[in-house]
Amino acid sequence: MLDRLEEIKKAALEALQQVSDGETLETWRVTHTGRSSALMQVFSGIASLGKEERPLVGQKANQIKQALETAFTERSQVIRHATLEKQLTSEHLDVSLPGRPRQAGRLHPATQTLRRILGILADMGFQVFTSNEVETDEFNFQLLNFPPDHPAREMQDSFYVDAGERGENPILLRTHTSPGQIRAMRLAAASDPKNPPPIRIALPGMCFRYEQITARSEAQFNQVEGLAIGKGITFSDLKGTLSDFARRMFGQGTRTRFRAQHFPFTEPSAEMDVECFVCGGTGCPVCKQAGWLEILGCGMVHPTVLQNGGYDPQVYTGFAFGMGSERQAMLRHKIDDIRYFWANDIRFLEQF
Ligand code: PHE
Repeated sequence: MLDRLEEIKKAALEALQQVSDGETLETWRVTHTGRSSALMQVFSGIASLGKEERPLVGQKANQIKQALETAFTERSQVIRHATLEKQLTSEHLDVSLPGRPRQAGRLHPATQTLRRILGILADMGFQVFTSNEVETDEFNFQLLNFPPDHPAREMQDSFYVDAGERGENPILLRTHTSPGQIRAMRLAAASDPKNPPPIRIALPGMCFRYEQITARSEAQFNQVEGLAIGKGITFSDLKGTLSDFARRMFGQGTRTRFRAQHFPFTEPSAEMDVECFVCGGTGCPVCKQAGWLEILGCGMVHPTVLQNGGYDPQVYTGFAFGMGSERQAMLRHKIDDIRYFWANDIRFLEQF
């Protein structure tokens, strides 16, 4: 029996020398040390051996089992190294090759500007409120105190989306964000009609006008509307808020000026200019030699509009403003054609 064990060992070790990859190594393990291997059969036969032979054979078999296990571990290490070596040479990597640049995604310049404006207004306590893009004539014009014959209501100026079956109240794409003023006021007033809460909101959104598309005017553009309603709000609050906004948006030294203007939904109304930040006010092509750039319309909310929103104009006052955000992006980045914004030309978009 002891000779038989020696033979088993010799045969196994010889076979192991032939093994050169992981797959045949596994086959070897099963054949020579597995459950039905010759060695294991010796183990199961031990019980039927004579009393004297038993411990000798047991000891020897155990020694061989250990020897085979050690040989197996050594062989598998040799094979692993060889495989790795082969892989390293076949998958040789040239680390001196220049890297391939990855394209990074980014926000559209219009979105970047919109977020910047909303960020500044948020710091000043204006909460974002969004309103409908598709509006009725009632909200877009009537409730904002537009007279029936106002030129903005002409077919040539607005995109009407119904076929005229709604008579006096057709549906159109909003021409400005101001109808959101009425919606915000009515929503707030509904919570407490006798004593409606104060409002301070920034209202961003796309607006649409039936315009000839040129370098300076697009049929769609983003506006940000601001609205503050409360007791005792004055025109000086409006001026302070908007001058501060301009300094945060365009730099601490930025000067502003207010010019009288007319809007049906504010009284008095104004437009705000900022000192041209390209030439510092001395005159250049960006400001068309004026030294000033117009950036927004504003005014004290008209009593009729307050009333239409559910706020008693005897008790409440407020101010509103509306600014075009692409226009501000154009000024900041010296973009000379508004048509770039929606043309989806990657060469333009990649610059921001
Ligand atoms: N809605 C006006 C426009 O589109 C801007 C504006 C908003 C003016 C609020 C005054 C107050 O030109």
